[in-house]
Amino acid sequence: MSVNKEIKRITTNTIQEMKVRGEKISMLTAYDYSMATIVDDAGTDIILVGDSASNVMAGHETTLPITLDQMIYHASSVVRAAKRALVVVDLPFGSYQGNSKEALNSAIRIMKEAGAHAVKIEGGVEIAESVSRILTAGIPVMGHLGLTPQSIYKFGTYTVRAKHEAEAQKLREDALKLQELGCFGIVLEKIPAKLAKEVSESLQIPTIGIGAGQHCDGQVLVIHDMLGINKGFKPRFLRQYSNLYDIMHDAIKNYNTDVKSNSFPNEKEQY
Ligand code: KIV
Repeated sequence: MSVNKEIKRITTNTIQEMKVRGEKISMLTAYDYSMATIVDDAGTDIILVGDSASNVMAGHETTLPITLDQMIYHASSVVRAAKRALVVVDLPFGSYQGNSKEALNSAIRIMKEAGAHAVKIEGGVEIAESVSRILTAGIPVMGHLGLTPQSIYKFGTYTVRAKHEAEAQKLREDALKLQELGCFGIVLEKIPAKLAKEVSESLQIPTIGIGAGQHCDGQVLVIHDMLGINKGFKPRFLRQYSNLYDIMHDAIKNYNTDVKSNSFPNEKEQY
């Protein structure tokens, strides 16, 4: 007799029901099998294979250089690890802006080659046609508004977005449009908490905030940031739950010392 309890997969419907119940949704990024195994096992509802992999995995300054092939590689590793979480994958810069057919082809590749459960795409009304076309193929779409890092060269800075009424109003309209098109959720990045509250309350679909305050329906952080692996990165919105940089640094230093002093391996650690 098997004692293994079947794990119930989180779906976009589960996420919707959580909003209705007022239950907060937890989302974290992961880009590889080992990290995704821990994130999933710890009960995270959504794993985002973010294009922030461009920064934290590849060391680029922005999210722009990462390719669709690279996103598929990261996503397929995460999908193999995730037993419970819903796996959402970013459409990277340059894989959807050309036209809606290109957007659909990119989303199909992510679903087919990586086995993802949904895609995320940055932008509002200007990408409505692409969002619609992807949804028509039965692929769930998560929106992303506010600070959209793929547009960093347009913004010029990573500071808080939608502080002024014109941009706030566009964000309200974009959020309603994404909901109307059929998105199952929207990431709100770095916008005033008051605006995020208003948008979250006005929508039937859940909002997931990063630097958008406590009234969003869920929260997302980049795993390397919340674990303290990115030593120098400490924006106001980030709660650092560990200091893995120092913990790993010390462990590796001890290993190096042991190898050089010939105290590793010892007699018990050999055959
Ligand atoms: O790429 C990413 O990690 C993201 C989150 C910051 C929301 O889009």
